[in-house]
Amino acid sequence: MTREDARLRPRHLALVGGTLAVCLVLAALSGLTRPDPARRNLEVFTEMAYSRAYESFTPNPWFADGKTLQPLQEGVVPRGARPFPYGDGPEEAERAGRELASPVDPADRDALAAGAELYRVFCVVCHDARGRGEGPVVLRGFPPPPSLHADRARGMPDGTMFHLLTRGQGNMASYAAQLSPDERWQVVAHVRSLQQEGP
Ligand code: HEC
Repeated sequence: MTREDARLRPRHLALVGGTLAVCLVLAALSGLTRPDPARRNLEVFTEMAYSRAYESFTPNPWFADGKTLQPLQEGVVPRGARPFPYGDGPEEAERAGRELASPVDPADRDALAAGAELYRVFCVVCHDARGRGEGPVVLRGFPPPPSLHADRARGMPDGTMFHLLTRGQGNMASYAAQLSPDERWQVVAHVRSLQQEGP
């Protein structure tokens, strides 16, 4: 053994000892974690994970009226919702017809297929597959809708038909709850293609 080796030895020992000490600390820490992935690990700062939220119907010192549930501000739009600034009635339906244009490209096969399927689900019961207004519900006594091939429906602008599906018309209910705006435009496109095919 040379003198050089002898000088290195204590340093080596310190290195090995230090590494061992770190390993021991890590092993001890890992004992605190839970190996079950379905459960949370040791939690140190929990404020982020569990914020102290107020329940909707509890008193709340932070608001002037003392309530947690606050009324919506004027003009608030739910996330993802598209405003439809048209009221009920024929005049608003006509205004929608003048102001709204269908976003559906009549050559878009996917949109037309989607519209056909939605029509089959939601409209056939009254309007029947061809749009003559002889669906099973009508055959059992529901007031018959006018044919979708009659002049009125043929001449109706897309926006008016969209308004009709959104707000309803006479004996026909609104379909805003069942069909999203995109879906309503797809159904309108399908009615247009039915009208082109004829009764
Ligand atoms: C429960 C039966 C029923 C269902 C379902 C129904 N409609 Fe109607 N629809 C009617 C009736 C009834 C009218 C006539 C309303 C009125 O003016 O009093 C009508 C009117 C219409 C008109 C206007 C016709 C015109 O000349 O004024 C269109 C367009 C139309 N419906 C499309 C649809 C579409 C598209 C669907 C499916 C999303 C649908 N309807 C679902 C019963 C129904």
